[in-house]
Amino acid sequence: MSETELRVSKIKDGTVIDHITGGHALDVAKILGITGREKRVITIAINVPSKLFKVKDIVKVEGRALKPQEVHKIALLAPHATINIIRDYKVIEKQRVKLPKVIDNIIKCANPACISNSNEPVLAKFYVEDEDPLLLKCHYCNYIMEKADVLQQFNVIV
Ligand code: CTP
Ligand code: ZN
Repeated sequence: MSETELRVSKIKDGTVIDHITGGHALDVAKILGITGREKRVITIAINVPSKLFKVKDIVKVEGRALKPQEVHKIALLAPHATINIIRDYKVIEKQRVKLPKVIDNIIKCANPACISNSNEPVLAKFYVEDEDPLLLKCHYCNYIMEKADVLQQFNVIV
């Protein structure tokens, strides 16, 4: 580390979401429900130089684990992200986010005419055709959802 660098603090216990696709840190924060008014330490780093990719984003959350549904949502936007579980300053578990083959009820179909958007008791369901670039196919109407459709639903800037 040279004099021009300042390393972001390590966390004691919690979760580090690393290698987030550049530009998506705030989307990830939003998925985790981070408002900026919580009492715990939260670190958001944007456009950090990365060996693997040119730049990456990082989100560190003290004192909390992620729910499987949150990990799946992150995987939709940042397919190369790694989830690091930290205990007593050590990385005790590291896993790359992964999408299941079938996604149930995490996102809605963008086709307004889809039966999953009607009053029928039908839950949205998609087949993951590709993770990067994202391609999801609706089980009911075959509509193809892309990352921009998902971002719109998470109510974030495309
Ligand atoms: N980290 C942290 N607090 C700790 C330990 C690790 O914030 N107590 C962060 C590191 O800064 C890094 C991530 O968690 O962003 C993963 O840590 P580590 O596995 O030590 O880093 P790398 O070997 O660079 O990870 P990778 O191989 O996944 O690139
Ligand atoms: Zn549909």
